Amino acid sequence: MISQPEMKEAATKPELYSNVQSQLRTLVADERDFIANAANLSSLLYHSMPDLNWAGFYFHKDDELVLGPFQGQPACVRIAIGKGVCGTAAQQRQTIIVDNVHDFPGHIACDSASNSEIVVPIIKDDHLIGVLDLDSPSVGRFDKEDARGLNELVEVFVESTSLEFSR
Ligand code: SME
Repeated sequence: MISQPEMKEAATKPELYSNVQSQLRTLVADERDFIANAANLSSLLYHSMPDLNWAGFYFHKDDELVLGPFQGQPACVRIAIGKGVCGTAAQQRQTIIVDNVHDFPGHIACDSASNSEIVVPIIKDDHLIGVLDLDSPSVGRFDKEDARGLNELVEVFVESTSLEFSR
């Protein structure tokens, strides 16, 4: 594995996501447990991507989002579908990039250090499984390259993991 500082400083975003995807594929190759794979993906992202203060999952349970494995400060546990950035991405089933969270109506502040955010919905067989959420202290930290890279990582996660549907 390339040392974390080298990855953070040397790589372009596509290189970084390609590297992280290879590491994810190795981590999930012999494991389908969803807590284990979600925990390892959140750790991989948090320690590989520059300029993050939070990376983790919310899972769809009982028609709301419930906090899953993550790295960063303790976070709010339950988010209603349609609320905040996470609930909006879950409801719309679309990746949402927020350049400045203070401009997003209804943003849920879990860590006062967060200034920008990206949320990727996790869908399997048309079921909403949850969302992957990354926060940054920098305004405008996330762009289309992040959206593409993270959506590909979520695809690998979904393919490789036994996921429960919330009905
Ligand atoms: N900011 C999110 C809440 C989750 S935390 O950022 C970890 C939101 O508005 O949905």
